[in-house]
Amino acid sequence: MRRTLIAGNWKMNGSRDSIAALLDGILSGVDEVSAADVAVCAPFVYLSQVAERLQGSVVTWGAQDVSSHANGAFTGEISADMLLEFGCRYAIVGHSERRQYHGETDTVVADKFAAAQVAGLIPILCLGEQLEERESGVTEQVVARQLDAVLDRVGAEALAQGVIAYEPVWAIGTGKTASPEQAQEVHAFIRARVAAKAAAAGEAVRILYGGSMNAGNAAQLLAMADIDGGLIGGASLKADDFLTIARSAAA
Ligand code: PGA
Repeated sequence: MRRTLIAGNWKMNGSRDSIAALLDGILSGVDEVSAADVAVCAPFVYLSQVAERLQGSVVTWGAQDVSSHANGAFTGEISADMLLEFGCRYAIVGHSERRQYHGETDTVVADKFAAAQVAGLIPILCLGEQLEERESGVTEQVVARQLDAVLDRVGAEALAQGVIAYEPVWAIGTGKTASPEQAQEVHAFIRARVAAKAAAAGEAVRILYGGSMNAGNAAQLLAMADIDGGLIGGASLKADDFLTIARSAAA
């Protein structure tokens, strides 16, 4: 049985004050969430603040990126061991904004996945096609290429210890959510591809949906057979919306 995971991706948003208020809001309502694990992925500089506030609660936290290197002369990078020192459980790897604006290739993303996992973090691997790719009918090829880079690097069993997030790029921050059926189709494809390597890994791996998931559409998306949670951007910045999404997970 795959337990639902609702993870917030705050992206480059927030301040000490707004994050304090957001964490208070989440903590005040999270007791009503029974059927989902709840996590937030914060900007690096706020991780100590997040750790201090969430310590001892049911809410876990993570980073939005991680270096593929363990340490050394990599100016500006943050290693998995550093994140662990701040209590992180998760690190997002290969978010489309990293692929698009920071030139992260499938190989770099696979290296980051492996580095995070070896250190003891749970990587959240983002996959997803651009609008032109969907329109030209190559969604599955794109997602397969992104997935295979990690499958070939770490193997299906290790992949299944991590989390996958299917995030169609055209749905991110646009208000255009994939329909539950559109998302389900790609989620089933991803699961089958992992299962082709190792059946149990395919069954076990959690596949989140991301891309304009909100308080109004979460229940329908989360009801689909192969959607095991959500990676939430915009709607994770409002405690009420984020908690509504988490409460939408069926037991
Ligand atoms: P969104 O972002 O919910 O604002 O579309 C999701 C994401 O990029 O992880």
